[in-house]
Amino acid sequence: MNIVYDFLVLVHLLGMATIVAGVVLRLAAPNGPSGMVLVAGAGAQVITGFALTGIASAGLVDNDINHTKIAVKLGVAVIVLVLAHILQRKPKGTAQGLFYALAGFTLLNVAVAVFW
Ligand code: HEM
Repeated sequence: MNIVYDFLVLVHLLGMATIVAGVVLRLAAPNGPSGMVLVAGAGAQVITGFALTGIASAGLVDNDINHTKIAVKLGVAVIVLVLAHILQRKPKGTAQGLFYALAGFTLLNVAVAVFW
């Protein structure tokens, strides 16, 4: 099960990279196709995060789960996912506030993952 877990961690990190790529893409090219990138990355984070938590909570890998931390991460990740969906439907170049909120919440989740 360790190999499955490690593979999910890899996809989890690639999902984070996908959100960051979507943010950078939108900053560099406001009219570019960043909406779908943000939705894909945010969706990947929620799905892989759930799978990682399930495997670790079931005791299938030797990794203690801090459920308070996971609850915070899940709440923040759902906000990021909702913002990504809203941004995808907004006309390009609008809703800058929501965009910066998405970037900030993503960074917050990285900080929670690393420092908590
Ligand atoms: C925007 C959303 C998210 C971001 C940016 C993010 C980021 C990260 C990062 C950078 C790590 C690696 C940290 C480390 O190994 O020290 C990590 C690990 C982890 N994340 Fe997330 N995460 C997100 C959402 C979630 C969600 C929603 C869940 C659970 C429902 C979750 C569960 C986990 C778990 C269990 C690990 C531990 C993997 C391990 O090292 O064993 N994450 N996350």
